[in-house]
Amino acid sequence: MQSLDSALRILNAGGLVGIPTETVYGLGADASNPQAVRRIFAAKGRPADHPLIVHLGTVSQLHTWAKEVPAPAWVLAQAFWPGPLTLIFKRAEGVLDEVTGGADTVALRIPDHPLTLQLLQQFGRGIAAPSANKYGAVSPTTAQHVRDDLGNAVDLVLDGGPCRLGIESTIVDVSRGMPVILRPGGISQQQLEDVLGFAVQVESKSAVKTSGQDMSHYAPNARVYVVTEETDKALSEELLAQGLKIRHVLLADANELARQLYGLLREADEQGMDAILIQEPRPEGVGVAVLDRLQRAAAPRKNK
Ligand code: TXA
Ligand code: MG
Repeated sequence: MQSLDSALRILNAGGLVGIPTETVYGLGADASNPQAVRRIFAAKGRPADHPLIVHLGTVSQLHTWAKEVPAPAWVLAQAFWPGPLTLIFKRAEGVLDEVTGGADTVALRIPDHPLTLQLLQQFGRGIAAPSANKYGAVSPTTAQHVRDDLGNAVDLVLDGGPCRLGIESTIVDVSRGMPVILRPGGISQQQLEDVLGFAVQVESKSAVKTSGQDMSHYAPNARVYVVTEETDKALSEELLAQGLKIRHVLLADANELARQLYGLLREADEQGMDAILIQEPRPEGVGVAVLDRLQRAAAPRKNK
């Protein structure tokens, strides 16, 4: 495929490629090339001490990046890769500070998208990729979102269609012995516990900078309200009485809401909406991650 060849050429030359994954689009660069990795931060406007996820094509590359692979990490990797799970390991020698933000750990994931898996396997090295949005904006779930956000700062966007899940990967720290969830995502706590056979803790505040975990990080310009079928009516009347332009999102199915959420938030801003009222998903499966992002989007903000 021609675009795949172009993507390989660009990566080998130290350029940036927008890559589709099952979660959200990533902004990829050769994880072994410090100049290329620095370009990611410049393109996103992201602080340099926020670490990146290194995407791999096969599990055989694990030891190039991870110093040690504890038993629970193997179990999780076997069960969920390729898939929406990012594992944090102690980093192997030679892993760039540019990638880890200077931390002694590294985040690794094998994504589940045919085009990007092919790219990773042909490239043969790791691809460092944060979500392909401007710093502070919502993650992109289509190739067009990436172009809208980054324009000429990205050399090529591989179009793999709309993302199947629409919400970022679950991040699990396996560098400290017992696995700890740092960010809820496409794989639920229940799924993790089912394959591990024991309870997994959720950490609310990480020592390492996890940019996606800042409150109000996922916020659009429109005010976000999380509502129930009961509170929706009274709140809409109140907002309409103030002369505000509002939009409702009533998707009871959490998977469908996950798939559409970031696109809807972007659309609400394009249409100049003042407020967006989103029906609260049930806190099960991917609903937990959706609720986490909604709470961040709805959090009161400085400067806005
Ligand atoms: O689904 C996803 O995870 C997408 C796709 C493209 O793979 N990527 C993504 O990357 O969401 P990003 O950079 O937007 O979010 C990754 C999060 C950041 O909050 C980062 O701080 C955290 O992972 N992270 C990366 N390395 C870490 C480390 N060594 N320790 C703790 N957190 C880390
Ligand atoms: Mg992000």
